[in-house]
Amino acid sequence: MAVAARLKLGESLADRVMKVDHAGEHGAVCIYSAQIAAARWRAPDLVDELRHFRDHERGHRTRFLAELEARGVARCRSYHLCGTGGAILGFVTGLLGRHAIAATTVAVERVVLRHLHEQVAALDGKDAAALAALRFILAEEQEHHDTSAGHLVAGSWWTRIIDPVVAASTEAVIWLGMRL
Ligand SMILES: [Fe+2]
Ligand SMILES: [Fe+2]
Repeated sequence: MAVAARLKLGESLADRVMKVDHAGEHGAVCIYSAQIAAARWRAPDLVDELRHFRDHERGHRTRFLAELEARGVARCRSYHLCGTGGAILGFVTGLLGRHAIAATTVAVERVVLRHLHEQVAALDGKDAAALAALRFILAEEQEHHDTSAGHLVAGSWWTRIIDPVVAASTEAVIWLGMRL
């Protein structure tokens, strides 16, 4: 599927993708930070894993920020929305416990991975630096998804309630970021 965007004057599709992904990584950092805070009480055995994921997300955010700086473009207007939304989502799901935390990660990462693969396809042969940044993070996002999927009980209540809500919210934020 093509990557849809409303671009500003002089902005390339790769520029916009880097901005949106940078904001998204900030959101991911905030989700995990808030989940870690709540999980200390609700799911202490998950805290180390969540810290490991957050370290990855910080690395992703830094990687995309370097791309923004190299291109001389400002961060996305959705940056603070991603941060605040991520923190709220992370804290609420963290309070709900381990299955809600895992269901959130699976839903977010599934949507993110689909977008990343579409972005790679759209930018292939067009922007080598952007492509390298996308490829840099793909394996780690897949690890977050797969590890968390391993914590889920198939068809559980949490998956059925949280998955569609979180997936739709993630889609909405990306949709908005590509058009702001
Ligand atoms: Fe990430
Ligand atoms: Fe991730």
